[in-house]
Amino acid sequence: MTEQLVITGVSKRFGGIVANESISLSVPQGSITGMIGPNGSGKTTLFNSIVGHHPVDGGSITFEGREITRLRVPQIARLGMIRTFQQTRIFGKMTCMQNMAISDADHGYGLAALLKPISGETRDRSEALLDFCGLHSKRHLLAGDLSFGQQKLLEFAMALMIRPRMLLLDEPTAGINPTLINGLIERLIRVNQDLGITLFVIEHNMRVIMNLAENIHCLAYGKLLASGTPDDIRNDERVIDAYLGGH
Ligand SMILES: Nc1ncnc2c1ncn2[C@@H]1O[C@H](COP(=O)(O)OP(=O)(O)OP(=O)(O)O)[C@@H](O)[C@H]1O
Ligand SMILES: [Mg+2]
Repeated sequence: MTEQLVITGVSKRFGGIVANESISLSVPQGSITGMIGPNGSGKTTLFNSIVGHHPVDGGSITFEGREITRLRVPQIARLGMIRTFQQTRIFGKMTCMQNMAISDADHGYGLAALLKPISGETRDRSEALLDFCGLHSKRHLLAGDLSFGQQKLLEFAMALMIRPRMLLLDEPTAGINPTLINGLIERLIRVNQDLGITLFVIEHNMRVIMNLAENIHCLAYGKLLASGTPDDIRNDERVIDAYLGGH
């Protein structure tokens, strides 16, 4: 299996805090790969390093064989790797359709893009993806008027609008009610299987990640503690200890 994302010895410090310490892991092309770990173990920091949100203090990152360690968010997004946030980053005072349109490079960005009518392929793709996410009937509502779970689905639809080859999802199910969680999981699987998009998912919900991911990396105290299949991880003493706070 080809490794699409390869992280080698990546470290990141914030002042005296070592948020990531020499982490090496990889994500196979076409996989659903999970990342777990207790609060503050460095999961979001690693995503931020991967997508170019901040410079790393050491190590290297390649995406599809290309060195991306020093690239920033827009350049990495153009290469096909997109991250969604633990907190949603939608524009509440814009409609769902407007949020979708400004995620489409063909439509353009910024104020000018907002004032432009949404037409052609941008409109068709926006509607199709909103429909896929169960939001078609809400397309003309302000995004800020959606429930939290619907806002996360909108953010997911916006990420798909960018036509990614790899999606990094930071706690996609956090704060979503159980009915929406099942729908979201089905959609994640379809995006992976039907569109061939690789998913790298941070998730606190063990039931979700054990069912979804074929391989899982576990962080603790900024270090990679264990990697393996869901069964390996479930039975790993070090992982159990980390979650029980016993080390
Ligand atoms: N911008 C920042 N400035 C200073 N410290 C930070 C910053 N971002 C993260 N940290 C620290 O780095 C460590 C790792 O945080 P991170 O957010 O990566 O953890 P996490 O595994 O995503 O946690 P959670 O499960 O709670 O989301 C924590 O000690 C956190 O306080
Ligand atoms: Mg986090």
